This record gives sequence, C-alpha cells and structure tokens, in this order.
Amino acid sequence: MSTKQMRLVSILLAAALLLPMAFAAAQDEMGQPLVGSWEACAAPTSLPETVTIGAVFGISGPISVYGGPQQQAVQLAVDEINTSSYLGDGTTLEVLFEDSASDTTGQQAINAMTKLVEEDMVVGVIGPTLSSEAFAADPVAQDNSTVVLGVSNTATGITDMGDYVFRDSLPEGAVIPGTIAQAAETLGLTSVGLMYGNDDDFTISGYEVFEAALADNGIQITGTETFAKGDLDFNAQLTNLIGTEPDAIVVSALAAEAVQIITQSRQLGYDGPIIGGNGFNSPAVLSQTGEDSEGLIVGGAWNLGNPNPSESSVAFAELFETTTGNLPDQFAAQAYTGAWLLATAIRCADSVDRTAVRDALAGITEFDSPLGVFSFDENRNPVHDPIAQIVQGGRFVPLAVAMGDEAVEPAETEAAI
Ligand code: ALA
Repeated sequence: MSTKQMRLVSILLAAALLLPMAFAAAQDEMGQPLVGSWEACAAPTSLPETVTIGAVFGISGPISVYGGPQQQAVQLAVDEINTSSYLGDGTTLEVLFEDSASDTTGQQAINAMTKLVEEDMVVGVIGPTLSSEAFAADPVAQDNSTVVLGVSNTATGITDMGDYVFRDSLPEGAVIPGTIAQAAETLGLTSVGLMYGNDDDFTISGYEVFEAALADNGIQITGTETFAKGDLDFNAQLTNLIGTEPDAIVVSALAAEAVQIITQSRQLGYDGPIIGGNGFNSPAVLSQTGEDSEGLIVGGAWNLGNPNPSESSVAFAELFETTTGNLPDQFAAQAYTGAWLLATAIRCADSVDRTAVRDALAGITEFDSPLGVFSFDENRNPVHDPIAQIVQGGRFVPLAVAMGDEAVEPAETEAAI
C-alpha cells in the first residue's frame, strides 16, 4: 500500500469512528425528536425573540369535544418546536388561544379572529374549529393578508375564501365517497335513510356529498329528514326513516346531535348500521353512546389503529398519550400537524412578514406528518389518503382491518379509537 493509500485508509477509519459521535451530538443538541419537522429549510437566522401565532378553537360548550384535543395538540407541537429550537436559537414560538365558545352565530369566532389579527398582530391563525365559524371569521384574516389554517374544517369551499386560507383537514368530498363505496361493498347496501342538520355549513355540505356518493354507488335513498343544531328530540325524524325500512341510516351531524341520534334510534328499536360524517369522528361520541355506537361507520383522515402508520404518527400518538394522559383522535392529529406546518412556513420564510409566511406555507410539499406524507394542492387543500373506520369494542377501527383485508397485529387493532 502506498503512503497516499495508507493516509486515505486512516482518514476513512477516523471518519468511521467519529461520525457516530457527531450524529449523537446532533441528536443531543436537538433534544426531543422532531416529530413533524421538515429539514428542507435551514434553521432561520432573522426571526425575532418571540414569534406569535393564534388559534381559535371551541374550547367551551358542545364543540369542545373537538376543540379540547385541538388545543392540547397545538400546545404540544409548540412546546416541541421550542424545545428543539426549530425556529432558530433565541426564538420562541408563542400561541394565543381564543375560545369560539360553541357560539352558533359565529360571532365569537369573528371577535376572536379580529382580536388576533388586528390587535395581537399574530403571524398566522390556526382554526377555527367549525366550518361555519370559518366561513364567518376567515374573511377577517383574508382581508388582513394573514394566513388562516383550518385543521378541522371539512365543508366544501373553505379555501375558496381566498389565497390566505388553507386547511390540512380533508374535506367531506375527499372522505365520504370512499367510505360509502367501502360500506356498500361490506354491508351490501341497496337503500338508506338520510338525515342532516340543515342550518350548518358542514352538515349541509356533508349531506350533499353523501347524496352524490349514494347515487354514484346506485344506493336508493328511502327518505330524507332534517334537524337543527341544539335539537334534542329526533324521534319523529327517526320514526319516519325507520318506517321506510332502509339497509342503513346515513347522518351528517355534529357531535351533540350525533349522540342523540344514535341513542334514540336504538331506543326506537333500530339495530341496523349507521353511517356518519366527520362530526361523528370523536371518541366523545363513542363514550357518550356506549354499546349503541357499535358498528357505526365513519370516514376519517387519521386513525390510531392504522396498520401502516407513518413514523411520525406513532411518535405523535405516544407523545400525546404520555403528555395528556388521553389517546389522541383525528382532531388532535390534524391540529398538531397544523401547528408544525405553520411553524415550518415561518422557519422557511425566515421572516414574520405575513405574505412571506403565506408563500412559504403554499410551498410545503411532502411534509412528513402524523397524517402521512402531506402536501397542499393548488387550492391549499390537503392531499393525503382518507381512512374508513368502523366502531368495534368502543373504538374506531380501520374498516379494512376489521374486515381482515389488512395484515395487522391484534394489539394495534385494540389500540384503535
Ligand atoms: N368537520 C366539522 C366542520 O367542518 C367539525 O365543521
């Protein structure tokens, strides 16, 4: 071996010994694993000491079944972002939470958005929880050229409000058609009774998508009934629908009404399948209905029992459970991902200029998130796979897993909610 060759061998040997040490040091510096991080942009150098974002969620009232986990998940992400210096050394991300308080007029959401955008001068806003709140409040953000990122808005047309309006929540149109097709095949459906809230943007939108998906699958609608937010007695509508002897009852409702509809349909003796939209996709609906929700079919964007979860989905679920003591649901996964997406836009913009942050957010593609590999489409809607679920043993289980179409360890199925 020549002297030159010997020198090369010793350099390679030294590198082989030192590289693992350097990697370990990098991990130490980073602290906790960066569950949702995106390394495509270098650590920023120009951000101020504190960067403030806002979040509008239904933290009190009936929609807090969604807003509670959303708030916990955003706080969790913000804490991780700060621990790992994701926005650069010396910069802390701060989040101001505002409660839209389940106000059905949307006024609380408008007030919250106005405060955050015009008084607190936040860089961007996550939320609000409901599509109806988003339709009321997002124009405030749009008019002030401020990003608003929906993390649970699933009605059609949310991002049509303007180029500062984004969402990471799959719209009903991306979830329901697949759920109906799978349910039709699994249950052999030929007819259904349809029920929906006719005073809410999301429940109306869900109804329209259900109606089209049922037609596409050649399923007859035996009857259609309506209700309003806050209704407590659904006996008249359910009696009418059950009288038409459908193979299943399909419902577009928010959680409070969903709970009553499930319970009252069983009290009336209906023991057939119920198929719900996004409003049903909360463990709170299952805990409040117990045995009555067994067999319920609901489409979703994320499930803890997904047989092929992304690594960040597993890490997120562990972190959420360890930190909060609860299992995460779809709303938590989407809110957590939303906070990481907004932080990533700020990191990539290396600026708190609202337009620069908007442009950076629009540019995020193939982001490794608990929702899977995530991108926005050209209309700022999310692109990733939905997942049809069925309730078994009080938990949401992927329909494919329940039907034995996917190889999955029993423990994973049991962990599903
Ligand atoms: N997905 C529900 C909505 O959009 C919470 O209002």
